[in-house]
Amino acid sequence: MTGVDAPAISVRDLVKRYPGRPPVEAVRGLSLDVRRGECFGLLGPNGAGKTTTIEILEGLLAPTSGEVEVLGLTWAAHAGALRERVGVSLQETRLSDKLTVLETARLFRSFYRRGIAAEAALELVGLVPKAAARVANLSGGERQRLAVATALVGWPELLFLDEPTTGLDPQSRRQIWDLVETVRACGHTVVLTTHFMDEAERLCDRIAIVDAGRVIALGTPPELLAQFEVAHLDDVFVKLAGRRLTESGWAEPVAGSTGGPA
Ligand SMILES: Nc1ncnc2c1ncn2[C@@H]1O[C@H](COP(=O)(O)OP(=O)(O)OP(=O)(O)O)[C@@H](O)[C@H]1O
Ligand SMILES: [Mg+2]
Repeated sequence: MTGVDAPAISVRDLVKRYPGRPPVEAVRGLSLDVRRGECFGLLGPNGAGKTTTIEILEGLLAPTSGEVEVLGLTWAAHAGALRERVGVSLQETRLSDKLTVLETARLFRSFYRRGIAAEAALELVGLVPKAAARVANLSGGERQRLAVATALVGWPELLFLDEPTTGLDPQSRRQIWDLVETVRACGHTVVLTTHFMDEAERLCDRIAIVDAGRVIALGTPPELLAQFEVAHLDDVFVKLAGRRLTESGWAEPVAGSTGGPA
């Protein structure tokens, strides 16, 4: 599917193998669609393959195999056009220590033809009071919020946020939630990863639960609660830790197994 009717993202049978001894198969046949205008969450335990997947969608990592279309285009053929239309906040962003907060936001703004003012992006993440501070002197949470601001300055049609609120205090977390809601209310698409179920439940229209490199469940928060037979999405992780999804439903792990699917 191509053109304006295409989903924001379409992923089919995505595989990513990192070479090494032994090689790591981080993504093992993952498929999903993200609709235009929705906030879509990738949830799953450490090492599930969320960052690997999102970095492939962001055009930063090449897949081993599988098909990925972003805004109806492929990274291989349309990287230049796509860069203008997507915003990326990495799980760990390296920013220049020597620049100030405002200089950093302006630098990223210069990468886009269109967008919002650097100051406006700082406002959205609550960093205006730190505009003149050097990046070297920021706290961890402030750096994280600056990384989100650098993803926002191009006012992207499609915003990727990899664990945007990990390590933030409650007030800063709420600020990120507000900006995600603002971006979504403007009709833009947001894809985020998180370990916080309350966050996913509040922000995401739909959630994909990823485990061992595959989507094991996908739906709205209420649909997932029903599917996993839990009252809170937090309990989904508890179920994941102790049990495995098999062809016939949830099964107890085999004694002595490490829990990974064969
Ligand atoms: N560059 C790499 N080389 C080799 N293995 C890697 C590399 N990057 C990730 N991995 C492995 O791939 C798997 C998936 O990692 P990934 O970072 O995608 O998980 P994640 O779901 O984002 O986890 P977290 O919740 O901890 O951020 C892990 O087993 C990880 O150790
Ligand atoms: Mg990650």
